[in-house]
Amino acid sequence: MNSGCCSSDVDSGAAEIERLFRPRGVAVIGASTNPDKIGHRIVENIVSAGYRGGIYPVNPRGGEILGHPVVPSVASIDGEVDMAVISIPASAVFDAVVACGKKGIPHLVVVTSGFSEVGNNEEERRIVEYTRAHGMRVLGPNIFGVYSAASSLDATFGPGGILPGHVAIITQSGALGIAMIGKTASESLGLSALISVGNKSDVDEADLLEYLAEDEATRVILLYMEGVKNGDRLVETLKRVTRRKHVVVIKSGRSKRGAMAAASHTGSLAGADEVFDYVMRQCGVLRAESVQEAFNWVRFLSDAPLPSGAEVVIVTNGGGIGVLATDACEKYGVDLYDDQTVLKGAFSGVMPDFGSSKNPVDLTGQATAADYEKALDAALNEDGMDAALALYCETAVFDTGRFAELLRDVYARYRERKPIVFSLFGGERIVETIETLRREGIPVFGDVYEAVSVLGALYRSWRRLREADEATTEAEVDVETIGAVLDRARADGRGFLLAQEAREVAEVLGLPVPRSRVARSLDEAVRVAGEIGYPVVMKVVSRDIVHKSDAGGVALDLDDDAEVIDAYQAIMRSCRGYKPDAVIEGVEVAEMVRSGVETIVGARQDPSFGPTVMFGLGGIYVEVMKDVSFRAAPIGPAEANEMVADIRSYPLLLGVRGESRKDIDRIVDVLVVLGHLVDRCRDITDIEINPLVVYDYGEGVRAVDVRILFRNPKGGDVA
Ligand code: COA
Repeated sequence: MNSGCCSSDVDSGAAEIERLFRPRGVAVIGASTNPDKIGHRIVENIVSAGYRGGIYPVNPRGGEILGHPVVPSVASIDGEVDMAVISIPASAVFDAVVACGKKGIPHLVVVTSGFSEVGNNEEERRIVEYTRAHGMRVLGPNIFGVYSAASSLDATFGPGGILPGHVAIITQSGALGIAMIGKTASESLGLSALISVGNKSDVDEADLLEYLAEDEATRVILLYMEGVKNGDRLVETLKRVTRRKHVVVIKSGRSKRGAMAAASHTGSLAGADEVFDYVMRQCGVLRAESVQEAFNWVRFLSDAPLPSGAEVVIVTNGGGIGVLATDACEKYGVDLYDDQTVLKGAFSGVMPDFGSSKNPVDLTGQATAADYEKALDAALNEDGMDAALALYCETAVFDTGRFAELLRDVYARYRERKPIVFSLFGGERIVETIETLRREGIPVFGDVYEAVSVLGALYRSWRRLREADEATTEAEVDVETIGAVLDRARADGRGFLLAQEAREVAEVLGLPVPRSRVARSLDEAVRVAGEIGYPVVMKVVSRDIVHKSDAGGVALDLDDDAEVIDAYQAIMRSCRGYKPDAVIEGVEVAEMVRSGVETIVGARQDPSFGPTVMFGLGGIYVEVMKDVSFRAAPIGPAEANEMVADIRSYPLLLGVRGESRKDIDRIVDVLVVLGHLVDRCRDITDIEINPLVVYDYGEGVRAVDVRILFRNPKGGDVA
């Protein structure tokens, strides 16, 4: 199809995503008078949700659906159309897309299945190529549609009855998305938008997040993801959006998947789920373990005010449940209010003599409904207590019958001012109370851990919302010089650098490699050793000897000229014996690296997120301990510091048992540089420093062994 031939193509570049949510008119291609067809269901939902723009069912058979005349073709629509929902068999979709292009319809919502999800990549590509060339955008294919509260538009074939509200859901799973519609309705959770992204052939999460970040109605965004496409753009977008809105993610596929390339430790340690987890945290996204947890979080986050501080007070009528809540607070990173004088002042008048005004404030099982209400009032009126967790265990003296009313009143009085969460434990009446209040949107939970988990989510997101943007740091990377080193190795048919070449790159990057030079004779070896300074190590330099130690080609800890002479002769003798035809270029004389804390630093092109960096504890047990952390690159010093602090062995770097603190700042420098390297040089697939030896504060680090793998289109070997 010639793209230049159609006068009414969408002509102003890529269509604005906003029109997808506020279309002036919607065509439904494949609208059927048969109520069992998906195309009929979509028209029915559009009509019953109250969309006020033009509704144009399209079907060559004609007729009428719910009062709307069916037009025979897109071309015959008389009116402004910004969206076409396509629900016809896959083989007919491309022609319909072209008809939409001719009509100048900017947004296509392709419900139809049977494209890349079943290996029909070609047809999907054809559609996207056409739409790109015509400035159109495609949502899908293989989706259940889109809902937008902004225009009361339910262009889905879901069960209907979506309530307008403040949560936007972007889902890759169709079935789960449709099930969520039912769940949101039964839990009275209002949505600002619901978007099924399916195969993400064009419009993806990043496009939608850009729009939702600006959408006033949206307070929380929930993402359900199965796989990541265009990960580096997603990271960049999420980092910005989480500074403005709460973002929650559920991702399926936590189970282990073989690492894509195990040619390096970094590759084999970078399990897809671990990397995803770290990158989401780096972006300030809250990752939920389950759909229920995600629901609890988004419901609470969409309604709760932001706290003015971090300290939470727990009010309980049961000591045991109070202790459980304290444990849960530790687990979810929730801080407890701790000023004993204020606690005593606030609560002494409202509790029995044997109660405790320490936090958790324990009113004991003697407390009546009136005591409980007074205590909650006291907590919520105290300025320094920023949020409240109200726990209740059913008791004989408490009027449980009126309890729902009491909680409703307390919630209504304070909901705009402070975050409040309730957790109730008891028999049938309590279970009923929980259900009733939840339906009203009040954050009530049967399990205390669930209650604390929502507060934890709020606080994590709150901290993120308050963070200032980290100033972007541009680490210097001399791309040209590094590219020239790679080109030379490419010409040699390799996909990896030899030790000397890797060292050259390390020096260009300013990495602290041990001082070293190649000596081509005994005299030169002695001279170089003297210049570098004793003690030194020597290693044979020969392309033909891969396992240098096995060949007797390595000598360590040489303290003076005499030891260098002996070692040089011994190396030559054993290497010639090991491989008589080996071409020996000389020996590498290098500074003997003192021992310190061995760490590993890697950077690579991750299959989902592109450039990523890894940091961990090194040494021979690196694969067993798996004590590593990841970030999407590039990163600045603050993010690098956080990733160092993420590993379990971090205390070793802070100094344990009287040892001094290690030079963490220099590790940070290396992480920042490596992150920029793999971001700028996408051909470098892996760079790994193992070990990076770390010394005491002020004494720096040493990059002992640097390995580099890169893409060689001519199919270079891997080390
Ligand atoms: N323009 C307009 N109408 C057309 C058309 C065209 N080019 N080609 C066909 N139609 C009409 C058909 O005549 C039919 O109308 P009718 O009932 O009046 O005869 C209607 O469009 C639908 O076509 P039909 O062939 O009956 O298909 P269908 O409704 O059985 O299936 C899909 C169409 C899109 C629903 C189906 O192909 C599909 O992909 N199903 C899976 C959807 C899905 O699960 N998506 C992912 C969810 S997460």
